[in-house]
Amino acid sequence: MAKMWAGRFSKETDPGVNDFNSSISFDARMYRQDIRGSMAHAAMLGAKGIISAEDAAAIRAGLEGILSDLDSGKLQFDPTAEDIHMFVEAELTSRIGDPGKRLHTARSRNDQVAVDLRLYLREEIDEICGLLRVLGRVVAEVASEHTAAVMPGYTHLQRAQPVTFAHHLAAYGWMFARDLGRLKDTQKRMNECPLGCGALAGTTYPIDRQMTAELLGFNGPTENSLDGVSDRDFCIELTSALSILMMHLSRLSEEVILWCSWEFKFLELDDAFATGSSIMPQKKNPDVAELVRGKTGRVYGDLMTLLSMMKSLPLAYNKDMQEDKEAVFDAIDIVKLCLSTFAPMLRTTRVLEDNMRAAAAKGFINATDCADYLTKKGVPFRDAYKITGELVGYCVGKGLTLDNLPLHIYKRFSEVFEKDIFDAIDLKACAMNRRSYGGPAEELVKGQLEKLKKIFAEEGLD
Ligand code: ARG
Repeated sequence: MAKMWAGRFSKETDPGVNDFNSSISFDARMYRQDIRGSMAHAAMLGAKGIISAEDAAAIRAGLEGILSDLDSGKLQFDPTAEDIHMFVEAELTSRIGDPGKRLHTARSRNDQVAVDLRLYLREEIDEICGLLRVLGRVVAEVASEHTAAVMPGYTHLQRAQPVTFAHHLAAYGWMFARDLGRLKDTQKRMNECPLGCGALAGTTYPIDRQMTAELLGFNGPTENSLDGVSDRDFCIELTSALSILMMHLSRLSEEVILWCSWEFKFLELDDAFATGSSIMPQKKNPDVAELVRGKTGRVYGDLMTLLSMMKSLPLAYNKDMQEDKEAVFDAIDIVKLCLSTFAPMLRTTRVLEDNMRAAAAKGFINATDCADYLTKKGVPFRDAYKITGELVGYCVGKGLTLDNLPLHIYKRFSEVFEKDIFDAIDLKACAMNRRSYGGPAEELVKGQLEKLKKIFAEEGLD
């Protein structure tokens, strides 16, 4: 494609440099936003008398034609074009002639790309939030079905205290709720329009930046033209929010992987969401969860790419910044793929409550409750803690549990123990009596789940 900036040059660009320089292979996906931005710009140029009303109308009609031809596939991207901006402008000019050449008045690709990217990411955030809401609802629904399923809660991956599966899953619900909030915050902050910043120093034309900002649905124009074209905080913020989201998803994935193992067997994946081995006939592998865990690293890598790319860049636009798109697009694509695959996997997973309960019965997760029993009967907590520790030591030595230890043995350790110790350390009671705010008691978790369902409802709270 002929260069629009060829005037100053006396030689053709080296073909290798052409390819090296070109971004159309990855920025073509912003064609709708590019055209939308150009339409707003042309409308403003027309309204301010910078170009004639006829030219503005011709540009609009030409751009509409290009948009529908690209949408339908009638028009293909030219891989030799430098970028999506050049492609659309050249196509417009070839269709409508001189008015097309007036479109770029009072504009630079520097503000153009900045506006395209904000428009594009703003829409992608809506889509990601939609997928996140679906996952959040799945989490809340699955949890609702298991509010009485006692399972061991872990610290250091050692059985610690009794919780329920619903309580455990709801914890992820809150992580995803924060992710939703972070994405919405990012979207709000990026909703300022850099169009009209020009190359870096604005323009002498009497442009109306309020008008273009409004036409494009932004809250207003960016305040400083240098900042407007050189800011990529919104890419970094978004990729950072996506990294945190992936971190949450990878933690849940790791638990799914562990829980599907024979060592745990708390979960059984649906056959449609598991894979087999080419050599081991017995295998049912949690590949989806493993891939989510693995892809998390890629999203972190994208964040590092963006941070490193922007580090120490002088103002204003530098070509380095063309590297922003592949990183942020990669992060978006991965997150969308992971969210949309993970949600149905979780929805169809069988929860093996009996195995959870059996695991909860081992590992002395009611030891704290035993100590609390003594404390409630007047024994100072530290003494109660020591007595219980000795009891656990005794049980470990004899292969017993606190539940099947006879009362007369209890009494050897403390005279305070009575028959009601067995009620106090009953696993179900241990979980259900934890009624402190945020705890695993059924009615409390149900309350949490109601809140989560509201947050993740289709038109949920922001
Ligand atoms: N393709 C470029 C990018 O993605 C567009 C801006 C180019 N600006 C320039 N002065 N070369 O960043």
